[in-house]
Amino acid sequence: KTVYLADYTPFGFIVDKVDLTFDLAPNATRVKSRIAFRPNPDAKDRTFFLHGENLKLISARIDGEPVNTEQTDEGLTCAVPDAPFIWEAEVEIDPANNTALEGLYMSNGMYCTQCEAEGFRKITYYPDRPDVMATFDVTINGPHPVLLSNGNPIETSEHRAKWHDPHPKPAYLFALVAGDLVAHSDSFTTMSGKHVDLNLYVRPGDEGKCAFGMEALKKSMKWDEDVYGREYDLDLFNIVAVDDFNMGAMENKGLNIFNSSAVLASPETSTDMNFERIEAIIAHEYFHNWTGNRITCRDWFQLCLKEGLTVFRDAQFTSDMRSAPVKRISDVIDLRARQFPEDQGPLAHPVRPESFQEINNFYTATVYEKGAEVIGMLKTLVGDEAYYKALDLYFTRHDGDAATIEDWLKVFEDTTGRYLTQFKRWYSQAGTPRVKVEESFELDELTLTLTQHTPPSTATPDPKPQVIPIALGLIGPDGTEVLETQTVELHEETQIFRFTSLEGRPVPSILRGFSAPVVLEYDQSDADRAHLLAHDNDPFNRWEAGRTLARKALLGIIETATPVDKAYLDGLRAVVTDDSLDPAYRALMLGLPSQSDLANTLHEAGKTPDPAAIYDATESMRDILASHLKDDLHALYTANQVTEPYQPDAEQSGKRALANAMLSLITRAEGAGLAAKQYASADNMTQQLAALACDIRAGQGDGMLARFEEQWKDDRLVMDKWFGLQVMEAEPEDAAATAERLTKHPAFNHKNPNRFRAVFGALAAHHAGFHHASGAAYTLLADWLITLDPLNPQTTARMCSAFQTWKRYDADRQAKIKAELTRILDTPDLSRDTTEMLTRIIGA
Ligand code: ARG
Ligand code: ZN
Repeated sequence: KTVYLADYTPFGFIVDKVDLTFDLAPNATRVKSRIAFRPNPDAKDRTFFLHGENLKLISARIDGEPVNTEQTDEGLTCAVPDAPFIWEAEVEIDPANNTALEGLYMSNGMYCTQCEAEGFRKITYYPDRPDVMATFDVTINGPHPVLLSNGNPIETSEHRAKWHDPHPKPAYLFALVAGDLVAHSDSFTTMSGKHVDLNLYVRPGDEGKCAFGMEALKKSMKWDEDVYGREYDLDLFNIVAVDDFNMGAMENKGLNIFNSSAVLASPETSTDMNFERIEAIIAHEYFHNWTGNRITCRDWFQLCLKEGLTVFRDAQFTSDMRSAPVKRISDVIDLRARQFPEDQGPLAHPVRPESFQEINNFYTATVYEKGAEVIGMLKTLVGDEAYYKALDLYFTRHDGDAATIEDWLKVFEDTTGRYLTQFKRWYSQAGTPRVKVEESFELDELTLTLTQHTPPSTATPDPKPQVIPIALGLIGPDGTEVLETQTVELHEETQIFRFTSLEGRPVPSILRGFSAPVVLEYDQSDADRAHLLAHDNDPFNRWEAGRTLARKALLGIIETATPVDKAYLDGLRAVVTDDSLDPAYRALMLGLPSQSDLANTLHEAGKTPDPAAIYDATESMRDILASHLKDDLHALYTANQVTEPYQPDAEQSGKRALANAMLSLITRAEGAGLAAKQYASADNMTQQLAALACDIRAGQGDGMLARFEEQWKDDRLVMDKWFGLQVMEAEPEDAAATAERLTKHPAFNHKNPNRFRAVFGALAAHHAGFHHASGAAYTLLADWLITLDPLNPQTTARMCSAFQTWKRYDADRQAKIKAELTRILDTPDLSRDTTEMLTRIIGA
């Protein structure tokens, strides 16, 4: 069944109050609900339909009288009075057997919930839609030391707790946690002087991994006050870490629930990248309190209203806490790796989709990351001052609302007087716009002709021109900037921009800071790119110049065995050895375009990518880098050793990133001696894991892997790394066999999403391994998707996107993939989630 945005109608009733009582028992939890309904004057349709799935109905009453209900797999209806009434129901549910991890479920003996998007209907009968908002009172009875729900506690005695959440909320923000947990506690004083208790609840044994998350929370609370003027609104803010969780984390009101991988951290067990991600996710979920909870979404088509904005806000936060250029470059790498393939393949959908079968399939890179890019463009177009004015208006005008993208754009229109009709296409059109640049220079005038074109897709067969902000500057022949960054707006199909009074031909630096999520088609010469690599004062475009040269060099090796241009290698060496530049930035400069990116570039050029050839080219490029930089490797490795005690901050992690990039090249040139030394002396996971990766790549990983396992066998999050790394570092022909061997390891557990993804996420990301000509990886993944689907449809469906790029490859690979996709699709009782994903991927 497909749901359409165009079919939106309000619910026929308003909910004034929800009272819930939980009597917890692993296989038979009783949930009693008492809900005050009244007719909604704004609704025409008065059908009383309550969502409900996998519920055993014990009793139902209206105004105290038993009622006859009509039940289906999706919910229930019954006759109701044409006046306010009280609905009371009791249902029984089975949290211990809830392997889908949606609704109320158990993880290592603890009860927890995940209700977004439509999980509340697995807890009790309810109008489970975000535009139905109510205040909740929750009573929990159970033999657990910790019993939590949303809002403020009003009674806590042994084996019973009562919670009151004064803020009306949709059911997807409901949460409950019960278990034998310990708290890491702190507090925060808000800008108006209100005291807020903060707790991070974890399983006993994890107390030592809380401090960083707590600091991140306090920084986030302060930042949202300073930058957006947003204050926290309850006496209490709780975070709980859970080992079994489908996604990263969830912003339930006053009770955020986190995948333990997204909150628990210690130097010994977490990498620098883990720390940075944790800081960002804590901020993200906290920021949702205003952008998501106080102002929520009218319906799930508006998901980007809260997600795009909150991703944008967490990116601003990370830029402020760490290095802004490094954050921007990392985000663009991620956007190109995850969102571009989605937008350019069979799963393409607009930032605001117009139809879906299963909403969980739309928590995508397009909704989140492209959604954030759209906010960034809006801010660029209206300017910082108008942006923050519009946000103030958004918060005052829509506080307490379930809002839409139209509401969001209207605050910008009202603030600036500017119409956003054309800009709105960013929300309604799928596909990545391509912007072609043509350049000419005569006398003292530079002419840039920009042409936009968005390839049609099933979701958007006839794309229209969009508003594309293009930040650009000009670099003179001597390397100085002759035109500072200015933003031109492309809104027609083709526009011409002229720059006059120039002394000599400058080199254009276009799409600075990646000012729009587009593909730039710009045939800039290698000499110009080398000039930008040496001189561009826009850090993003300086990096981009290097990246484009690297891509060209790699394609040269793949297609024509062309030797790598020495000018590029010298330029890269100059940047990497430039001590005035941030080590993190220099480490990014050394990164190569991914193999999947290269496959896509070849595909777009009308060629059929050969994953083995791409792999070989990438390997030889790394050998070339190692030999070209051979006189610098040890010096840079040594110069970037951190001697102070470990801190997961930007400065130290930048140094480790550069030193570890050196270690990898040194290992390539000289073998694993230095890596073994680093492994032996490492006092943190970043150093330990980098050394282990080098060792495996050098073909000598076995002993070290065994030692690593022995050291960390009791730490789930570290063991996820152990599982993942072996697949990531496997030779292409061994990747599937390695993954298969790991699934037989006693610690492999496909019911745990982190562990499943550690193995299969790594396999799908191993381009040459996943697409090995044998097809073994396709078959292995398909087997496991078939196994997992009846247990956990959400995680199964997500993993299907490993196949989304299948049409890039040769006929043989396509046939093999299609056979596997069809085999999965033919499985009896396949979930709605997986069915929708596979039908879309296979396409017409
Ligand atoms: N709202 C959460 C976040 O982005 C994501 C939860 C989505 N969960 C799901 N099962 N669809 O922070
Ligand atoms: Zn979010």
